[in-house]
Amino acid sequence: MHHDDHDDGQDPKETINYRETFRLLAGLINSRRRPFAVALVYTMVSTLVSLLIPIIAKYVIDTALPAKDPSALLLATGAYLATTVVFLYFNYLQVVQLAKAGQDLIVDLKERLLGHMLSLDLEFYSSMPVGRLTARVQSDTSTLYALFTNTVISIVNDALMFAIAFFVMAYYNLKLTLMLVPMFPVLAVLGWVFVKVTSPMYVKVRKLAAEVPGFLTEQLNGIGVLQAFSREEDTSRKMEDLNRRKFTAEMRVELLNVVFFLSIVFLHPATTAAVFGIGGKMVMAGKLTVGVIVMFVMYLGYLFEPIFRFSEHLSVIQRSFSAGHRISKILALKPALTEPPEPHFLTTVRGSIDFRNVWMRYREDAGWVLKNVSFTLPRGQSLAILGETGGGKTTVTSLLFRFYDFQKGHIEIDGTDIRKLSLGSLRSAIGLVQQDIYLFPGTVMDNLKLMDASIPDGRVHDAIRVMGLDSFYKKHPLDKKVKEKGANLSIGEKQVISLTRAMVLDQEVLVLDEATSNMDPHTERLITSAIKSLLKHKTVIIIAHRLSTIRSADRIMMISGGEVRELGTHDELLAAGGLYSKYYRLQYGEGE
Ligand SMILES: Nc1ncnc2c1ncn2[C@@H]1O[C@H](COP(=O)(O)OP(=O)(O)OP(=O)(O)O)[C@@H](O)[C@H]1O
Ligand SMILES: [Mg+2]
Repeated sequence: MHHDDHDDGQDPKETINYRETFRLLAGLINSRRRPFAVALVYTMVSTLVSLLIPIIAKYVIDTALPAKDPSALLLATGAYLATTVVFLYFNYLQVVQLAKAGQDLIVDLKERLLGHMLSLDLEFYSSMPVGRLTARVQSDTSTLYALFTNTVISIVNDALMFAIAFFVMAYYNLKLTLMLVPMFPVLAVLGWVFVKVTSPMYVKVRKLAAEVPGFLTEQLNGIGVLQAFSREEDTSRKMEDLNRRKFTAEMRVELLNVVFFLSIVFLHPATTAAVFGIGGKMVMAGKLTVGVIVMFVMYLGYLFEPIFRFSEHLSVIQRSFSAGHRISKILALKPALTEPPEPHFLTTVRGSIDFRNVWMRYREDAGWVLKNVSFTLPRGQSLAILGETGGGKTTVTSLLFRFYDFQKGHIEIDGTDIRKLSLGSLRSAIGLVQQDIYLFPGTVMDNLKLMDASIPDGRVHDAIRVMGLDSFYKKHPLDKKVKEKGANLSIGEKQVISLTRAMVLDQEVLVLDEATSNMDPHTERLITSAIKSLLKHKTVIIIAHRLSTIRSADRIMMISGGEVRELGTHDELLAAGGLYSKYYRLQYGEGE
């Protein structure tokens, strides 16, 4: 996985990939082209109708009034009111239609983004803070909402309004209309400069906008540590600094927006003056009617309306492109570990799990973390892995889940290479109880079922009985509410729950990463007996620290520096007088 280019924390020179982003945005619209087309039709109707108004005005001034014809005047007034009603009605239809289409589209996009994120490797999550990801899903997608509900349709409609106004003007008086042409290059240059200058600024604003909630989430997650070390002030200072940087960046963009907007605004009175001056002279020379001048001035309003709006659109477009750019960057990430082309489905482990001469490193430029690791774990047996910190114990188990791939050797389950197994079936056949236990908000029961409502309650009760944990669950009833991350439970209690969960989920093979923390003798006994009961019922790899668990495992593997140093039963290893016997004596004294 290319994780250096998706951490978009700090690169100020990063530029938006317009082509890629355009593809994403266009694809999104295309997926909802019907509702958008309908909205466009509504918009066009209301625009066309409103474009009739200057013609009605010209009719009143040049025809109805000179003829002193009251019925013609009445007709014109009626037509004027009718166009307004039609205009408003279709406007209403369009707004409703777009809001719905836009919402649908954003929901789709969020689903797609979230689904994609969930498929990405753990490596992605270690390089991308959760807070920032939350901001991606939330704020970047909402930024696009403005684009889809308003801007896209409005741009098409504005272009149409502009063109029609221009052609109607040209139809009534070509000479006067051509006088307006010099303002176009001025507009084009202004717009171009504006985009060039603000584009990198928008990237910066978007980044900072994601950084603020990102920082907040990270800090709040560690609030306990912050308070314990009284670092609150330091943190709020950093937060303030971040907020101020965001504020400054936003201010700069806003300022430029205003300057750009005002310079365009100035063009309107300038051209209107030209029409009055030059057109007035033509009227005096009898080459033009007053109605045409009035109509021209009104159409100038129509001509400028899209231009004014365009500066607004530009800002939405820029924001959208920088949001879309980052969304498409996440969508472009491919999980490094993919399903094999013709996956085998693992249902049960009948024979054994085999590691044969496995070599693994996390990065090509780093050293080997596992060197020539081999072992066999027959069904129903247990293997305890022991070794120094950083020795590679967790890595061995990660390979079994294919959280990472290895470079040399073989890992097989019942003789099938695990790279040929479907990832989903592999991971649902093997259960994991991690060192740091994560409980979800919900009841104890929900957590025991890992939120899978299809698991019958009976299975939970059975598991509790088999593991001899009845008294524990009397103290912590199944309907007890677990707070976020299990904050209202002790570490030992969380461990008991996660061990029970391993039994409930009914996976044949279990990987336990035993926590080292010391517990009171009572909880210690509870956990030990829970683990022992799992060892009895399942095929288990356990990264063990407690002597009692190590001794109840069928075999023990000592790992050091990524190499298997010793492998055998407790008695064998003790008799061999090697690393294990030293470790054993060091840890537990001569006796027990
Ligand atoms: N995601 C990773 N990316 C790069 N290196 C890693 C990664 N995870 C672990 N390592 C490195 O691989 C080596 C083995 O780590 P591992 O987690 O397997 O050790 P361990 O034996 O489980 O240690 P502990 O007893 O402390 O849990 C360590 O040097 C560690 O720094
Ligand atoms: Mg570990």
